Formats: sequence, structure tokens, C-alpha cells
Amino acid sequence: MFSCIARPAVHLSRSFSTSVQSNARVAVLGASGGIGQPLSLLLKNSPLVSQLSLFDIAHTPGVAADLSHIETRAHVTGHLGPDQLGECLKGCEVVVIPAGVPRKPGMTRDDLFTTNATIVANLADACARHCPEAMICVIANPVNSTIPITSEVLKKHGVYNPNRVFGVTTLDIVRANTFVGELKGLDPARVNVPVIGGHAGKTIIPLISQCAPKVDFPQDQLAALTSRIQEAGTEVVKAKAGAGSATLSMAYAGARFVFSLLDAMNGKEGVVECSFVRSEETECAYFSTPLLLGKNGIEKNLGLGKLSPFEEKLVAEAMSELKGSIKKGEDFVKNMK
Ligand SMILES: NC(=O)c1ccc[n+]([C@@H]2O[C@H](COP(=O)([O-])OP(=O)(O)OC[C@H]3O[C@@H](n4cnc5c(N)ncnc54)[C@H](O)[C@@H]3O)[C@@H](O)[C@H]2O)c1
Repeated sequence: MFSCIARPAVHLSRSFSTSVQSNARVAVLGASGGIGQPLSLLLKNSPLVSQLSLFDIAHTPGVAADLSHIETRAHVTGHLGPDQLGECLKGCEVVVIPAGVPRKPGMTRDDLFTTNATIVANLADACARHCPEAMICVIANPVNSTIPITSEVLKKHGVYNPNRVFGVTTLDIVRANTFVGELKGLDPARVNVPVIGGHAGKTIIPLISQCAPKVDFPQDQLAALTSRIQEAGTEVVKAKAGAGSATLSMAYAGARFVFSLLDAMNGKEGVVECSFVRSEETECAYFSTPLLLGKNGIEKNLGLGKLSPFEEKLVAEAMSELKGSIKKGEDFVKNMK
């Protein structure tokens, strides 16, 4: 009688690969938070993941028990507090870090530095000790500083591989695709706007001139669209009115990035995502550009491509803020006891 209960085919389109099976061991650090919970749900739902290790300083036993009842094969474990961090990370191939405080109205991402720098540095330190070869995907803000922090901590341990450390900026791409799709009446799942630079205000640089399919906007509309993409996080922070920043769209974006990475690690060819990484493409030591991903992380940095004069100006205007945020992160680790 119950022989054909239809399981909904979870079809999240784009690069949410659901058909291929693999055995990735993925850890989420900050798994009980606003991003961590829905991100863990999406990861649990993926046939690419066989082990999902959840760490937080609160509530992980409950989150893990809850997720473990879902009828997918990923084995879920919950780890609570610093004493259980090593056990969480052991054997993990991909570590995603959404741990840290989010913005409240009126705050910039840089206002989070004091709290989140220490959190990310400690988590990176644990990665260096327990899974030094893992791909590390940092969501915690300010990404423009937390990636230099992660890199410097890994360097201190002598295990830094710049091809394996990623600042997750995918939400900027997701937003750009959505807004362009809305304005042009296109299915956003078929729009692809590269977003380069960093992940804060004017360092977020959407390359509308490189959008696929090609789209054109009058200059005033282009300027307004660019500002909306740059300030889209603040749009959510204001709408949530003190209850945090983007969580659901960020979970989607984080999962999209992790699935792309896992696909590439499994040998899929032609996987490209933008991410804030160590870079030699500009005078900034870290910069986001489209990256060809492969079995060992970044296979090739695809660079900035041809920019319009408007985009060139945006890049020039972002440089000093970006360099300052990078230096702040590097100095933080240098001065750590
Ligand atoms: N990269 C992006 O595009 C993007 C987008 C949105 C938010 N964010 C950032 O992501 C971070 C998390 O946001 P959120 O909304 O999920 O916040 P949240 O407060 O809802 O969740 C954060 C979680 O981190 C946990 N945590 C705190 N210290 C920890 C530690 N030392 N080890 C492990 N876990 C710890 C907390 O217990 C909490 O469960 C923030 O820094 C936010 O600014 C980034």
C-alpha cells in the first residue's frame, strides 16, 4: 500500500548537484546559528556528503539530533564547545565557517572585527592542527579581514595552501543574478554575473558588462543596480530590524559554493565560482575573481577579464579600503599571543 510514496525530487537548480553521489566529510563551525542551521540542512540533503560534523559553542546536540532523523545517508555528529572541536574536524575535507556575530542596523561588517577576528583565528588554528589539508570556506564577516586572518594562522603552523582557503562571496553573485533577472524579466537561475573585489560595501564589484546572457542598462540604472548589489546585505539587516543579517539566502549561497567545490574535487570539469582568495591579479594580496576549481581547490584564477570604464573606476575606488581590511587582519594575527 505504501510502496510508492513519492519522495520529492529536491531540485535546487543551477550548481546544486543532487544526482552524483560522493563521500565528502564536511564540517560546519557555527552550526547552530542563523546561517549554520539552514546550511547544515542543505548539506544533509546532498548525496555529495557522507559525514556532516557540526560544531558550535551552543545547541549542537539538538541541531545534530534533529538533522540526523532526515532520510539521507550523511551521518551527522554534533560537537559542543572547544574540547570537542578537534574530534569534529578530524578527517574533514571541507570546513565551512559561519561562526561569529552578525550585523545589527547601523553596523558595518568591519564593526564585527573585534569579536569575529578572535573566533575565526581560533577555529583556523584548530583546522591547522586537526585537518591541515581541508578546504576552508569562511563565511564569517568581515570576510575582507577573516581570510587574511585564516591564512596567517595557517602560515604560522606551516600548513598554508592558498588554493584551499576561500572567502565565501557567493551571496553577492546570487543577489546580482536575482536583481538582474528581475529587471530584465529573465529566469535568475540562468543569469550569471561575476562579482569581484571583496565582500563589504564598495569593495563588492559586480561586473554587469560580463553578465551572461549579455544585458544592457542605461548609466543611471546601472549605477543604481550596482549600489543595490553592494548594499543588499544592509537591506536585509534593516528589514530584520535587529534580528541579524542574511541567513537563509546565505545558507543557499554557502551550500552552492560547497557543492561546486565538492563537484570539482570529485573531478567535474569547468566548475567556476567567484571567491575572495589569495591573489596576484591586482595590487591587493587578496581579491575575489572567478576561479576554475579542481581536485585541489583553485586550479586557475580566471582574473578580472575585460572591464568597462565604469567597472575600472569601481575597482580603483575599492583598493584602499580593501588593502586596509587585509592589513588589519594580517596585523591581528601578528599581534596575537
Ligand atoms: N559571507 C557572507 O556573505 C555573509 C552573509 C551573511 C552573514 N555573514 C556572517 O556570518 C556570520 C554568522 O551569521 P549568523 O547570522 O549565522 O549569526 P548567528 O549569531 O545566528 O550564528 C552564529 C553562530 O556562531 C556561534 N559561535 C560563536 N562563537 C563561536 C565559536 N567560537 N565557535 C563556534 N561557533 C561559535 C554562535 O553560537 C552561533 O550559533 C556573521 O559573522 C555574519 O556577519 C556572512
